[in-house]
Amino acid sequence: MRASRNSSRLLHIETFGCQMNERDSEIMAQLMAAEGYLTTAAPEEADLIVVNTCSIRGKAEQKAMSLLGRYRKLKKKNPRLVVAVAGCVAQQEGVALLERMGHLDLVVGPQEIYQLPELVAAVRNGAGQHCATGQSPAFVIPPFLPELGNGPAHKRFVTIMQGCNNFCTYCVVPYTRGREISREPGDILAEVDHLARLGVREVTLLGQNVNSYGQDRPGLPSFAELLHEVAAIPGIERLRFTTSHPKDLSEELMQCFASIDALCPHFHLPVQSGSDAVLKRMNRKYTRAEYLDKVARLRAIRPDIAITTDIIVGFPGESEADFAATMELLEIVRYHGAFSFKYSDRPHAASAQFGDKVPEAIKGERLSRLQARQEEITFARKQELVGTVTEVMIEGGSKNGDQWSGRTAANVIVNFTAVETFTPGQLVMVQLDEACQNSFRGTIIQHEEQPA
Ligand code: SAH
Ligand code: SF4
Ligand code: F3S
Repeated sequence: MRASRNSSRLLHIETFGCQMNERDSEIMAQLMAAEGYLTTAAPEEADLIVVNTCSIRGKAEQKAMSLLGRYRKLKKKNPRLVVAVAGCVAQQEGVALLERMGHLDLVVGPQEIYQLPELVAAVRNGAGQHCATGQSPAFVIPPFLPELGNGPAHKRFVTIMQGCNNFCTYCVVPYTRGREISREPGDILAEVDHLARLGVREVTLLGQNVNSYGQDRPGLPSFAELLHEVAAIPGIERLRFTTSHPKDLSEELMQCFASIDALCPHFHLPVQSGSDAVLKRMNRKYTRAEYLDKVARLRAIRPDIAITTDIIVGFPGESEADFAATMELLEIVRYHGAFSFKYSDRPHAASAQFGDKVPEAIKGERLSRLQARQEEITFARKQELVGTVTEVMIEGGSKNGDQWSGRTAANVIVNFTAVETFTPGQLVMVQLDEACQNSFRGTIIQHEEQPA
């Protein structure tokens, strides 16, 4: 519902990057809603524009910068408009952004988003451009009770830790998000409990290095202990987490897939490369053999687990033989899905200084070969499931028809036809009839009664 234009102001948020950024955007929207800002999809009618940026690859940064450039015109038309840059590019570039783009009012780093209302108010009171990019290892993620706002009502993200200590040589995140800081377990449990009471049935725990939760301060539970506590909250039917580092994948965490019913049998375990020489130069702190052992162990504990990954092609010095080792790894693991990227030099990242850069054309060619083969494997993995019956959580339906869609525990979309009406978050049993590249088509078998 939209209040009248007189009693409220309008906020437009654009979000790039990972789920942590999506969650931060929700937090900013909620903080501004408390100040009377309603969100709008139209930047032209906004009083406040926030661009929550990502810096993971050069392209992500360029996209955010060109969008910011386009807002110059809007600012000219409406000098009362406040334009803020948040996220990883904000932290990385800081005050330089304000110098480069005179139409920007605010730069807000990831640890400063909770100050957004005060920062915006100061701009409105004539304080001029301001850069808030403080970053401290002593930062405490504040307790925060989420509202459902504009997001889905049945599934939500909960940030449980921030930052990263790993310093993979290609990566900007330790610089933009700072050191690892785990949230207080009591705050996390209170947030999930609150969401469950609002009707949320699926929760994804977030962190740049989520499975190192608890290692930064004595007295915190381990990540596995935290999973048990979260899963015990009534109403939480599905529990997920992302993203994990292979080096922190403990036996205790693997056992959770056998002992926690709500934990979805899906593990996103970025490998980055199949070559030991490249892994070493990436500072990934595991070998190919250690990674493969962990995959085998996970599958021994939970045979139906879907494993997905991230891969970088064309890391400096990657030879054709190194790349062949990555291609071979695809055949060994047979991932259920993979995100793959061309290596990109990033500010501060050690590998930006490495010699022996792989030419763009070769990166592009390797990426297409890898993606073509992985698509076949992803499809074959889906075909293996055709004919089985699986639990699907309803996402939504087409407005006027009998078309419904939901997600399997492994997070794959299933489309099916049914004359009944379902609510998002409801669990139904569906037979998978046909595999498509990014989804299944299925037939509804039965559904539980919605609790009153
Ligand atoms: N914290 C997670 C994810 C980090 S970002 C992890 O450790 O796996 C998501 C993915 O972006 C990474 O897994 C990696 O595959 C990719 N990536 C990160 N930096 C990159 C760079 N400089 N060039 C290309 N891809 C990169
Ligand atoms: Fe980046 Fe490595 Fe940290 Fe992931 S683990 S965020 S890739 S430094
Ligand atoms: Fe991008 Fe920052 Fe996330 S660089 S991937 S928004 S942590």
